[in-house]
Amino acid sequence: MDKVDVENKTDFADMENKMDSGDMVNKTDRVDMENKMDSGDMENMMDSPAGTVFEFKKVSYRYKQDRAAALNEISFAIPLGKKTAIVGPNGAGKSTLIFHMNGLFSSESGEILFKGERLNKKTQAELVRRVGVVFQDPDDQIISMTVKDDVAFGPTQLGLSASEAKQRAMESMELVGVTHLADLNPSELSFGQKKQVAVAGVIAMDTDVVILDEPMAFLDPSGQRHIQGIMELLITNGKTVIIATHNMQLVAEWADHVIVVKNGACLGNMSPRELFCEHPHLLEEANLDLPPVAQMFHGLWEDRAAMPIQIEEARRWIQAQLNAVK
Ligand SMILES: Nc1ncnc2c1ncn2[C@@H]1O[C@H](COP(=O)(O)OP(=O)(O)OP(=O)(O)O)[C@@H](O)[C@H]1O
Ligand SMILES: [Mg+2]
Repeated sequence: MDKVDVENKTDFADMENKMDSGDMVNKTDRVDMENKMDSGDMENMMDSPAGTVFEFKKVSYRYKQDRAAALNEISFAIPLGKKTAIVGPNGAGKSTLIFHMNGLFSSESGEILFKGERLNKKTQAELVRRVGVVFQDPDDQIISMTVKDDVAFGPTQLGLSASEAKQRAMESMELVGVTHLADLNPSELSFGQKKQVAVAGVIAMDTDVVILDEPMAFLDPSGQRHIQGIMELLITNGKTVIIATHNMQLVAEWADHVIVVKNGACLGNMSPRELFCEHPHLLEEANLDLPPVAQMFHGLWEDRAAMPIQIEEARRWIQAQLNAVK
């Protein structure tokens, strides 16, 4: 980590203590924020013992009546407190799913459960306050005239005082490594820098679910490692983290759980190891590739279930072979 040592940044727990999650507001309040739930509804959502953060049951969505469905009776569940990756080819429906997960879109049919509770109009509106999303295109969520104001926008909407929101924004910018951009106008930033600012804005809200649509796109290798470190830190602090990605090595290295999507339907819902070692045909079906490490070993390995899929696993195996011939 060459910007900030995220391992040593444990301010989240403190931030969590400070925050009343019932006040959460996402800046992209395209849903009717007046339509907020009452506290009784919220308690039901917060106290649910369910082990899933989201359950989609036969959910369909169409952008336009004359167009093919973007989501086609899709069903899957995402575990609470875990690292989940949604993968699939371009146009598979990943971003459309994410728009449903923070309440921006309403499904045409089917049902969505959040922490075991079926969403209704009120609870769907509340999602935008409880689920932080870094959109695929950062221009969809950066709206202020300076980076620091933009990062402070979410906490301000949560009801924090100006000084608390500023403090939260400073901590979040430091964590993400964008403090040097604080006084710039976001329109002057590169795409990768805008994406980092969007990440800082969502971190500053301290939601208990964080979703990142293509978090690594346009980031340099150091920026990618840094964001991955932050994703780990979020998990350490009890959050649920969901990403949509085309980066299969990231899935192998990072995810606990992977959902394969194509044509708005779920082809598979399993661990990365199960997907890459036992069901690689699903990747082919979804026009995806094995991660590079698994590509190297695929076909060579008799016991497929034990095939290295992570860089460290491959390194250890190669080292063992080298030691054996010494
Ligand atoms: N604003 C829109 N209006 C109409 N159709 C849309 C719109 N956005 C997406 N779609 C369609 O919905 C389907 C799913 O798109 P979505 O953006 O969810 O895919 P994705 O899996 O996120 O793709 P990518 O990997 O390119 O980000 C595609 O067929 C796409 O053409
Ligand atoms: Mg997308």
